[in-house]
Amino acid sequence: MKTIFDSFKINNLSLKNRLIRSATWVSLADDEGNLTDSLFDTYRELAKGGVGAIITGITTVSPHDAYLDGIVQFYDDKFIEQHKKFTDMIHEYDCKIFMQTAMVDSVFYINDDLYKVPINQLTKEHIDEFITLFRDAAIRAKSAGYDGIQLHVAHNFFLGKFISPMYNDRSDEYGGSPEKRAMVLGKIFDEIRHVVGNDFCVIAKINGDDFSDGGLNINDCIAACKIMKEHGIDAIEISGNYTSREARAGANEGYFQKYAVAVKERVDIPIILVGGHRSIENMNNILFKTDIELLSMSRALVREPDLINRWKSGDLRPSACIGCNACYRTPGHKCIFVLRSKK
Ligand SMILES: Cc1cc2nc3c(=O)[nH]c(=O)nc-3n(C[C@H](O)[C@H](O)[C@H](O)COP(=O)(O)O)c2cc1C
Ligand code: SF4
Repeated sequence: MKTIFDSFKINNLSLKNRLIRSATWVSLADDEGNLTDSLFDTYRELAKGGVGAIITGITTVSPHDAYLDGIVQFYDDKFIEQHKKFTDMIHEYDCKIFMQTAMVDSVFYINDDLYKVPINQLTKEHIDEFITLFRDAAIRAKSAGYDGIQLHVAHNFFLGKFISPMYNDRSDEYGGSPEKRAMVLGKIFDEIRHVVGNDFCVIAKINGDDFSDGGLNINDCIAACKIMKEHGIDAIEISGNYTSREARAGANEGYFQKYAVAVKERVDIPIILVGGHRSIENMNNILFKTDIELLSMSRALVREPDLINRWKSGDLRPSACIGCNACYRTPGHKCIFVLRSKK
């Protein structure tokens, strides 16, 4: 019988348990995208807190991406050294670390000026350019000591839009069917695998459904997951529109489960389920009842970074996170209730 505290292997990487901190933008990089002391402090608490692996918050691979407040940038070799210190720090706590590589939006040069270019109007040169940006970031991540990278294909950021029928109405080889829209992921994975080798973990996060009319649905998601599997992906995290959902212990926990199960039934790949995990009871129940291998969490660990160690010590009270999303608006994206209790 599977439980959250079993060890698990993704590719050749051993995790001490089945629990992953899902990517969480902590908004703590400086204006040039460098790591700061407060970012190190936040991640140290998480690594100490008992998860098997951490996926960093969204990290942009493009030098001219749209800006998100305090986003980490990784478009140049000049960033490698600080990330090496960062991954060494995480590894001290027997915790593995993945970088979530992403582009926030579709910002590209046309002649000498930058524009937000609709997916339908991206040229072959733009597409080659961003494939190269993702590939180069993976090379850097490997040399900075990361255990793997996660391609951010979820939540309507750039790659999520590229594979969505709502944004991609292209009639060339990159559009026209779910498989053709997702082919770009296959190309990115081929490029990455070629340079990082077979042992480095390459995973992705994708929506099971965009929950919007005309957006990506579960069939589009499955088509994309099949392509990713064919091109050598090591695990897939299934997400969706989480901000519109509330969850607390005993109510609406693990709300994307049916999408993760649907993918697992059709694609033979380790699946990570994110969204609304609050109680050890429900999490073990998901592992017991389904073939899902791994569970990932964001807000429960914002509220309590050492939640996993607490559970491990025998204190099985669920997370007190209520999914209110106030942590999106606080400095360092800390839990509002924790900040209030320190006043
Ligand atoms: C403050 C905050 C920042 C987030 N940043 C990211 C991010 O950078 N990349 C990402 O894929 N998801 C991000 N998420 C979504 C989480 O990874 C997760 O998918 C979502 O919160 C649902 O899981 P949960 O109920 O465990 O929080 C963020 C969520 C929060 C609350
Ligand atoms: S602010 Fe709300 S959603 Fe964020 S961690 Fe705290 S309780 Fe959870």
